[in-house]
Amino acid sequence: MKLSINIDHIATLRQARRGDEPDPVIAASLCEHAGAEGIVCHLREDRRHINDRDVRLLRQTIKTKLDLEMAATEEIISIALDVVPDLVTLVPEKRQELTTEGGLNVTEHKKHLSTVIERFHAKNIAVSLFVDPVKSQLDTAAEIRSDMVELHTGEYANAKNDVERGPLLQNIQSMAEYGKELGMGVNAGHGLNYLNVTPVAAITAIDEMSIGHAVISRAVLVGLEQAVKEMLALVTRHAPI
Ligand code: PXP
Repeated sequence: MKLSINIDHIATLRQARRGDEPDPVIAASLCEHAGAEGIVCHLREDRRHINDRDVRLLRQTIKTKLDLEMAATEEIISIALDVVPDLVTLVPEKRQELTTEGGLNVTEHKKHLSTVIERFHAKNIAVSLFVDPVKSQLDTAAEIRSDMVELHTGEYANAKNDVERGPLLQNIQSMAEYGKELGMGVNAGHGLNYLNVTPVAAITAIDEMSIGHAVISRAVLVGLEQAVKEMLALVTRHAPI
């Protein structure tokens, strides 16, 4: 199990003053130093946190893996084709949302997504589709040759109690295994934190977790490297350093 850290909210803090600190590029380097095996950032259409300069500098400085989260819109696609991240994760994006609210409807947007995936593959960029843990979405993702899916864990994370959480966790496990059967890599993320990550980390069919808000929030209190190391210990089930 690998851990990628989403650094969007380092940039959110910077944008609170529209200045130049804290710098997400420096944060990415600290995350890698603490053991993160990938860095995720979301270049939104409204540039509310990560901006074009960040993505280009991250491409030059990241030593692990750059996962660019993005909507499949022409402006962002052309930036991604130019920057050449290691992975693009396609997500739905609404201007009014506080964060990504659900998975992509791959079945509905099959034709468009299929063309977008082909364009990325032509540049040797791997593609992941952020989907709800639903069989038909995984079937279509495999059909249009997505390299990976990222299973949306938001519903699991928002469950009020164990009775609600149990079946949602079970479904994430089944869909992770199904994704593997279809030949895709399987990531998971959204809403995972220090209290709810362990059962998801125990699912062996999941290759990687993508975690942002919880780690950056803890980093404000205990420091970024410490926060990453603590999450890494939970995800990989190693003792914290
Ligand atoms: N994965 C995807 C596709 C996301 O959109 C986000 C939020 O940016 C995350 C993972 C990380 O979610 P969180 O910040 O809740 O850990």
